[in-house]
Amino acid sequence: MEERIVEYVRALFAPEDEVLVGIRARHEKDGLPLIFISPEEAKIITVLLAAVGARRVLEVGTLGGYSGVWIARSLPPGGVLVTIERDPAHAQVALEAFAAAGVADRVDLRVGEARDVLATLQPPFDAVFLDADKPPLGDYFHEAMRLLRRGGLLLCDNAFIHGRVVDAGDAEPDVEGVRTLNRLAASDRRLVSAIVPVRDGLTIGVKVGD
Ligand code: SAH
Ligand code: DHB
Ligand code: MG
Repeated sequence: MEERIVEYVRALFAPEDEVLVGIRARHEKDGLPLIFISPEEAKIITVLLAAVGARRVLEVGTLGGYSGVWIARSLPPGGVLVTIERDPAHAQVALEAFAAAGVADRVDLRVGEARDVLATLQPPFDAVFLDADKPPLGDYFHEAMRLLRRGGLLLCDNAFIHGRVVDAGDAEPDVEGVRTLNRLAASDRRLVSAIVPVRDGLTIGVKVGD
């Protein structure tokens, strides 16, 4: 998308407050990777969460809490975000971000390997956002489908993996993981799915069947 158009959408629909700006600045200061979702992607997620009436949301890949703050802020009273992060340094930044945003009481941050934490979780979740490592995305897809209620929302970041998804010569595990996720999301009869071409692509689906 043309940058001026992105800026237009961002300014009108997804302006950041000082807390969100501060979280991004903290990533730079502490040398965390600058790979958080964008404001307009966050706002699309917010709209979809509202559409399914999400109260209990799971995120895989917290980083420093940027997406988590957007999600937690969008929840109704009593809502909860469970978010998984394996890097303790990232988790520490995220905890401070949740406190600064005033959402610490509705965020349940689990520090650990996604696979291990996922195995401890029980349905139902209203939405699952996958944004961690890419090679195991097929496994994460199956876990998400296990955890989602009927009518629940599946979200997965990096659907295009910087355009590499269509490069036939690229069979790196990251790219293969994204292709597997997209193939599963597109073909699973329990899902109505699509890709929103925002930033690096957001795969979306609603679980309409069990
Ligand atoms: N959702 C965040 C960005 C996540 S970046 C945002 O938009 O703000 C991906 C994060 O996933 C990194 O912090 C990384 O440490 C974490 N991660 C990667 N593989 C993981 C795994 N197997 N288990 C748990 N966390 C993992
Ligand atoms: C990158 C971006 C992401 O959103 C992500 O989840 C992982 C990596 C990147 O730009 O490298
Ligand atoms: Mg991502």
